[in-house]
Amino acid sequence: MAEDHLERLRALREAALLGGGPERIAQQHARGKETARERLARLLDPDSFQELGSLARHQISDYGLATRRYPGDGVVTGFGAINGRRVAVYAQDFTVLGGSFSEVQAQKITRLMDLATESGIPIIGLNDSGGARIQEGVRSLAAYGEVFLRNVLSSGVVPQISLILGPCAGGAVYSPALTDFVIMARDVGYMFLTGPEVIRAVSGREVTAQQLGGADVHHERSGVAHLVADTEGAALDLVKALLGYLPQNNAEDPPYQPSDDAPERIDPALNTLVPADERISYDMHLVIERIVDRGSFLELQPAYAANAITGFARLGGYAVGIVANNPAVLAGVLDINSSDKIARFVRLCDAYNLPVVTLVDCPGYLPGIEQEYGGVIRHGAKIIYAYAAATVPKLSVIVRKAIGGAYIALSSKQMRSDMNFAWPTAQIAVMGAEGAARVLWREELRRAADPAALEQQFVAEYRERFFNPYHAADLGQIDEVIEPRETRPRLIRALEILRTKVQQNPARKHGLYPS
Ligand code: HXC
Repeated sequence: MAEDHLERLRALREAALLGGGPERIAQQHARGKETARERLARLLDPDSFQELGSLARHQISDYGLATRRYPGDGVVTGFGAINGRRVAVYAQDFTVLGGSFSEVQAQKITRLMDLATESGIPIIGLNDSGGARIQEGVRSLAAYGEVFLRNVLSSGVVPQISLILGPCAGGAVYSPALTDFVIMARDVGYMFLTGPEVIRAVSGREVTAQQLGGADVHHERSGVAHLVADTEGAALDLVKALLGYLPQNNAEDPPYQPSDDAPERIDPALNTLVPADERISYDMHLVIERIVDRGSFLELQPAYAANAITGFARLGGYAVGIVANNPAVLAGVLDINSSDKIARFVRLCDAYNLPVVTLVDCPGYLPGIEQEYGGVIRHGAKIIYAYAAATVPKLSVIVRKAIGGAYIALSSKQMRSDMNFAWPTAQIAVMGAEGAARVLWREELRRAADPAALEQQFVAEYRERFFNPYHAADLGQIDEVIEPRETRPRLIRALEILRTKVQQNPARKHGLYPS
């Protein structure tokens, strides 16, 4: 081959590696950010990256773009490996026209998504972009639409993970929002539909980009971010951790990871972890950590609707989804946000073949005018829908309270839960004792000489009758009442039995998920 052929190729490749050029790379570093290629080098196994489309450039000549054509056009796309498992990745390159989203970017990304989905490979997107490339007009808007379509069609087929490592503004936010996981890096990443300038113009309110859409906002208030990291590097490590619990696609099982934590380990501390006095709360994280394979719990949305806990863990080396109420926050009630959080997580586990283990300690749905006006009925219905429709193995442990709707919704037998356990501290009743007294003994209490004493008598009787797991066990609603310390081996044995579970829902186009 003539040397000039090779020289031309090498020059183009070198230009592609430099993105927007050394000056822009220096600016990117000065912003505290890494370049697209630096990020991919950190994320992927060494020498595993196979790039595609590195020479593609836009064909636009408006607004000075004719002289600003960069190989790759502001996004690096290709396949690589993470811990030896294949992944599809795209990383927007802010050094090229602010990473702005173009028709060529969309062609590259959608090609990657199509190949990944056909081959059953997870898709990871690194977002760092000024949004739709203004000079391209409707072309760049249509380009977003092409990506959104793939996000939807690949949903529940291959895991999709979005990292927010820079701006993600306007309609661009909907691609991450349509994926399974959003991970944000503090200080550098932000997401909003309309930015600070628009907000100032329409409402006169001053707000910075970070105040409006920074990692902490989406972690604590909006629930948009599932995980947040202090640095870009830590955000990329979270991708690796997440993938460790997920199958490559919906036709595979999640990876098995042997644990040195014995499956038969009993934990005596669990027998005394729940305080005898039910007015004293405790942190359900302590229960989870003592049951699952040591150190395996990865919590999602920890700061959002913290009255519910959702996350991945392993039991006997097998990945599971954990759902729990946390009595340490708002007594563990179900409300609008925790309903959304739990329901989405159960559906996620169901999509990717992860058994769901539910630890119940919940006084019920939160009573309140704002909750009713906010639609707690339709939000609460999501939990029922998610559990009832899920066909993965489902196990539950009632730790303390399982009152009213919470008992039914949270993995009860009627939600097709496979095995239901309860600790001796379980309280299973239609409603709390004081409320029941006011309904059932209203007349008696009104006429009583000493209503307080009568109410006390009723409450004592009611508690004796319902605030234990034995009535439910009598009726077969609870399969076994177990000692707390034996919870881990019980769950692991149950999962072993259910590993080959097959269950199907009636054929239909799709159900109407309450939303
Ligand atoms: C074209 C863009 C661009 C865009 C940034 N650039 N955003 N070019 N289209 N959308 C260019 C800038 O002109 C600049 O080029 C370079 O990228 C770096 O941008 P800076 O502004 O210098 O960087 P910084 O100060 O860090 O500010 C980043 C920014 C800001 C906050 C993202 O660039 C910005 O506000 N961009 C516009 C954001 C936006 O409103 N996008 C449209 C959202 S609506 P030069 O050559 O001057 O250095 C949308 C609709 C999608 O996306 C709908 C889908 C359905």
